Amino acid sequence: MTQPTQLPAWRALEKHRQEMAGVHMRDLFAADHQRFERFSLTFNDLLFDFSKNRITEKTLSLLEQLAEECKLSAKIEAMFRGARINVTENRAVLHIALRNRSNRPILLDGDDVMPDVNRVLGMMRRFTEAVRSGRWKGCTGRSITDVVNIGIGGSDLGSRMVVKALSPYVDPSLRVHFISNVDEADLVQTLFGLDPETTLFCIASKTFTTLETMANAKSAREWLLHQVRDPGAVAKHFVAISTNSEKVADFGIDTANMFEFWDWVGGRYSIWAAIGLPIALAVGMDRFEAMLEGAHRIDEHFRTAPFHRNIPVIMGLLGIWYDNFFAADAYAILPYDQYLEHLPDYLQQGDMESNGKTVDLEGHPVNYSTGPIIFGQPGTNGQHAFYQLMHQGSALIPCDFIAAAQSHHNLGEHHELLISNFIAQTEALMLGKTFEEAKSELEKEGVTGERLQELAAAKTFRGNRPSNSILYRKLTPETLGSLIALYEHKIFVQGAIWNINSFDQMGVELGKQLAKKILNDLGGEDLAHSHDSSTNALINRYKALRI
Ligand code: F6P
Repeated sequence: MTQPTQLPAWRALEKHRQEMAGVHMRDLFAADHQRFERFSLTFNDLLFDFSKNRITEKTLSLLEQLAEECKLSAKIEAMFRGARINVTENRAVLHIALRNRSNRPILLDGDDVMPDVNRVLGMMRRFTEAVRSGRWKGCTGRSITDVVNIGIGGSDLGSRMVVKALSPYVDPSLRVHFISNVDEADLVQTLFGLDPETTLFCIASKTFTTLETMANAKSAREWLLHQVRDPGAVAKHFVAISTNSEKVADFGIDTANMFEFWDWVGGRYSIWAAIGLPIALAVGMDRFEAMLEGAHRIDEHFRTAPFHRNIPVIMGLLGIWYDNFFAADAYAILPYDQYLEHLPDYLQQGDMESNGKTVDLEGHPVNYSTGPIIFGQPGTNGQHAFYQLMHQGSALIPCDFIAAAQSHHNLGEHHELLISNFIAQTEALMLGKTFEEAKSELEKEGVTGERLQELAAAKTFRGNRPSNSILYRKLTPETLGSLIALYEHKIFVQGAIWNINSFDQMGVELGKQLAKKILNDLGGEDLAHSHDSSTNALINRYKALRI
């Protein structure tokens, strides 16, 4: 494919960027009372307001033209049809099949994948009902009180995020914990106080070879066996979630207790597969399926809505506008919802592992920016940490504000305080405060002379800082499913425009290879000398200090 930067729409966007250089959003709002209506979309009870962006109708139409020139529709269709769009790994990308609640056949090499998807969902239902009802017994005949998921990356972040997000729906008699880090502190702290007789481990690993997960799983098995002293206990206290039955059996887990998924599910897109088992254990299978339903509705929207009414397409295109035409290389995810505490981390992997690439689908280096740095944390905490830079710093950081109109609680005016901040921040970022406005406020306080000039300059906000607002009725399982799917498809859109493979992750391999070698070097008495001087020195210093 032609590099996107060579396409007519890209060139036109570059020119248009110049036209937009002096345009301030406060003027755009003042000149058009219909701006919100023009630049907002709804999907069921979810509002996507993108009017506080540095865009006009022309911007949008050029971005849509870019999507067309990049053959976005054909690329979407290829994913849904089961084409092997993950070209480096020669795999289809079918997480949409996992939540295909319509059950229409989805063919992979001529075979419908839905019977397998439904079989595993049925197995998850039977298992989670047995555990939640207390019918599933540990090796001494006691019911399970604690579930510990051991996984990392895509085998951890999604279920960790959702279990937290759906806390109000969680059965308090079954606690769900997560261990991911190979740092022993993670395991030691999590297992502290747990009773092995009533603890169930879910070993979640697509490959079942990931170093961190395997090390943690082995230590968890030792912890169990050390206390119950019955090798048969593993069958009652360990289940696996994986694509690799051989390795699962090698580890000693009965493959009857293995929840299968497939190579056409990318790790960071696997929350909808059996990797979501801890979610179903925490909130029940009906709610897990409600989450699938919410995602499926967005899949249908993404697949069928015209670009100008397609929320993930617009989200993706706006990201392209800032990343490639304003050099905005960071992007903030700002949920005004404590239950969405882990959403920024989850989307960080989703986005950065997908689009952090510098070669295109044909293997050529790209000469344009891809994948911004994703960060964020729940409002209002972030306001007292990094928002200063977003308001007055030299970097342009587009962001998404996310909130529910209804809280799960009813504690005085907390929710209104939260929402007033959510809305105020988007207004402040957009409007800013002019030097004149700052000066007049100071004059009213009696400030004069040089001090007035200095302070007014410091209190000036340029504004014109873009944000999207996503507002929905309540954070239910369906809404959460829809929200996550919106971001997945946004990432897809951007990968499609950048002509990169959003579904491999070769960039994580080098560190893994080198860690293996360094682990060997750490073992012996000899000094390391086969690396660069810094790496040798770090190894040798560590060896000297550890005694
Ligand atoms: O970090 C690389 C990665 O392969 C991720 O893509 C994946 O989510 C994670 O490691 C865990 O992999 P696995 O599920 O195979 O243990």
